[in-house]
Amino acid sequence: MPASSPKIIAVVSQKGGSGKTTLALHLATCAAYAKQQTCVIDTDPQATAAAWGDWRGDFLPAVVTSPPARLARTIDNAAKQGMELVVIDTPPHAEAAMREAIKVANLVLIPTRPRAFDLHALEGIVDLVNYTGTPASVVLNGVPAGATRMVEDAKAAARNLGLDTCPITFGDRAAFHRSSAKGEVAGEIKPGGKAAKEVEALWKWVKKALP
Ligand SMILES: Nc1ncnc2c1ncn2[C@@H]1O[C@H](COP(=O)(O)OP(=O)(O)OP(=O)(O)O)[C@@H](O)[C@H]1O
Ligand SMILES: [Mg+2]
Repeated sequence: MPASSPKIIAVVSQKGGSGKTTLALHLATCAAYAKQQTCVIDTDPQATAAAWGDWRGDFLPAVVTSPPARLARTIDNAAKQGMELVVIDTPPHAEAAMREAIKVANLVLIPTRPRAFDLHALEGIVDLVNYTGTPASVVLNGVPAGATRMVEDAKAAARNLGLDTCPITFGDRAAFHRSSAKGEVAGEIKPGGKAAKEVEALWKWVKKALP
């Protein structure tokens, strides 16, 4: 019997340090806790997500590496192993890798710091998602406390480019940073904390947004 296809989320952005790996790992771990068979495919030669997986050991989710050109094959293997959800982490400044990930995805998430130069980098993604017609959403990351105006301006900038913004944002929170550096996620070092709640809310939203 052929393996059923997993749902695939591509996490992409041109900008370095926008939060791609943080978002991919937190979302995948949240899905794994929700009993979804989940794996992360790390297509970044820096292999940051894979290193996190090594530090984590046997705890879920599984993390595998794949060169972008082998992505379809790696996803086939994940499907054969019964994966229901695949989250693809991508490198910065790498249009080809981003294109490969967007091509196979059911949903594209674009983590972006809510600052002008970061928002400007969204332009490079618009054509790619328009070309494939894949649903895509900007996820504002590292939002300073009380920065309502900043969030509204960022949403407007995304809208001007024709991109939707996810209603869930991630604040600038030490728990994201500290947990990742230990092979953990925010909810594991600070259960019930603000970061953990943001991740839960994002997972809930993603489940509905996934076509
Ligand atoms: N919401 C946040 N709050 C606090 N720190 C964060 C947040 N998001 C990311 N970080 C930290 O910012 C740094 C960059 O994040 P991350 O590695 O996820 O970005 P990236 O887009 O994957 O970077 P690269 O483009 O180099 O792959 C990391 O040290 C991470 O822990
Ligand atoms: Mg990264």
